[in-house]
Parts: sequence; structure tokens; C-alpha cells
Amino acid sequence: MTKQQDSKRNVNRRGHFLVFEGIDGSGKSTQLAMLADALRRREIPVYPTAEPSEGDIGRLLRSYLTGQRKADPRVFAPLFAADRLDHLTREKEGLLPRIAEGTTILSDRYYLSSLAYQSVDLPMETVIAMNRPCMDLLRPDLTIFIDVTPETAMNRIANGRTSTELFEKRDRLAATREKFFEAIRRLHGEEKIAIIDGNRPAGSIAGEIQEMVISMFASDGC
Ligand code: ADP
Ligand code: TYD
Repeated sequence: MTKQQDSKRNVNRRGHFLVFEGIDGSGKSTQLAMLADALRRREIPVYPTAEPSEGDIGRLLRSYLTGQRKADPRVFAPLFAADRLDHLTREKEGLLPRIAEGTTILSDRYYLSSLAYQSVDLPMETVIAMNRPCMDLLRPDLTIFIDVTPETAMNRIANGRTSTELFEKRDRLAATREKFFEAIRRLHGEEKIAIIDGNRPAGSIAGEIQEMVISMFASDGC
């Protein structure tokens, strides 16, 4: 292929949207960084991001999650949905414009997290309904759910973190993990979700994820 054809191909092609999910301490940010490096080595343009976003609503949410401000946890569900819509549609730096220009986005959490975390306090139907506009605007090409036992997560949080966030107290980890599985069952057929065993060395998990993603890109012809 000539250089010209190659750049035309990149301009015309929409970027991929890959999402990492799992309870706190499952290794999402570690794996996201490793996949970003692997894709960059293949000269695939990558934009790593996370939720809550860096926007106004995201900053407000972080102030609740860190305990800086107090709020009834039920207000988190609409705020996360609003932050997500803003993150998707924001002019220039929004996820939709970036994907349209051909960038592959790697996101640390998306609406599956809302379904799992918020439905500990609210009916899951309600949380799904609140996130429906986000689902309609952008579904992940692939959600990578890194599954660890609550014990693994607790050990990693205890070793690697100075503080745990409001929603990730020890007694909630197991409940949240169960809600993730309930959400995965409910979205079955609508979403492509890979469940990866996260109870092993980071390099071995990264190898499995890279193989899966590269073969997905190859089958898309890019
Ligand atoms: P998350 O983003 O899901 O909360 P992190 O990637 O921040 O998880 O990982 C949580 C902690 O566990 C960090 O200290 C990280 O270095 C460590 N960690 C990540 N993956 C592994 C792994 N496979 N084995 C052991 N420790 C890990
Ligand atoms: P995150 O930034 O992933 O924390 P960390 O990098 O430390 O793992 O997640 C922030 C918190 O927000 C986490 O406790 C999960 C919670 N959360 C929700 O409750 N609902 C959501 O929709 C999202 C995206 C996150």
C-alpha cells in the first residue's frame, strides 16, 4: 500500500472504543497503560481516558468520591450519566469527535460501572434507563472486564493505595462484583464483553488482552 493510500485509510476510518471495567484494584489502569503502549508501538493513535471525566461534572463527582463533599449516594447515578454525556459530546476533546477523526479511545470505566455501582443503591432498571442515551450514542467495540476476587482486590488496595474511595469500602467490593455480573447478563447480546481472569501476573493478562485486541483490529482490516 502507498503512503497516500495509507493516510487516506487512516482518515476515513473511525477509531475503536475499548473500555476497561472491574472493581477497584482489579488492575484496570495498569492494563490500560500496557495496552496503550502496545498499540502506540504499532503506530495506532490512542487516547487514554477515565471516568469521572476532567470536566465540571466529573470534578464535582470526584469531590464526593473523595469525601471532600457529602452527598446521598443516589445522586451519583444521574451525575455519572450527565458526566458521561458531556464526556461523549464535548466539542473537540469529546470522545465522539475523537473517534470520528480516527483515534482509538481506551477508557477506564464506562456505563457498566454505573450499572454495577449505582444499582447497589437503586434498581438496575433505573440505572440502565438513565444511561440509555449514552448507550445509544456510543457502545464500546469491546469491554474488557478484569475479574478478580474481592480478596485480591483488597490486598492490592491495601498495598498500593493511600486511600480507598467512598464507593469502594471493603464490604461493598463483593456486592459490586456481583452487580457487574448481573449487568453483563442483562447486556448479553447487546454488548461485546470479554471476561479476563485478573488473579495472575500483569504481564500474562496484558498478553491475552493484546492478542484479543490485535486480532479484532486485524479482522476489521486495520
Ligand atoms: P484499578 O485501576 O482497577 O483500580 P490498578 O491498575 O490501579 O487497578 O491496580 C491496583 C494495584 O494493584 C496497583 O498497586 C497495581 O500496581 C497493582 N496491580 C495491578 N495489576 C496487578 C497484578 N496483575 N498483580 C499484582 N498487582 C497488580
Ligand atoms: P476510578 O477513577 O476508576 O477509581 P480508581 O482509579 O481509584 O480505581 O473510579 C472512581 C470511583 O467512581 C470508583 O469508586 C467507582 C465509581 N464509579 C461509579 O460509582 N459509577 C460510575 O459510573 C463510574 C464510572 C465510577
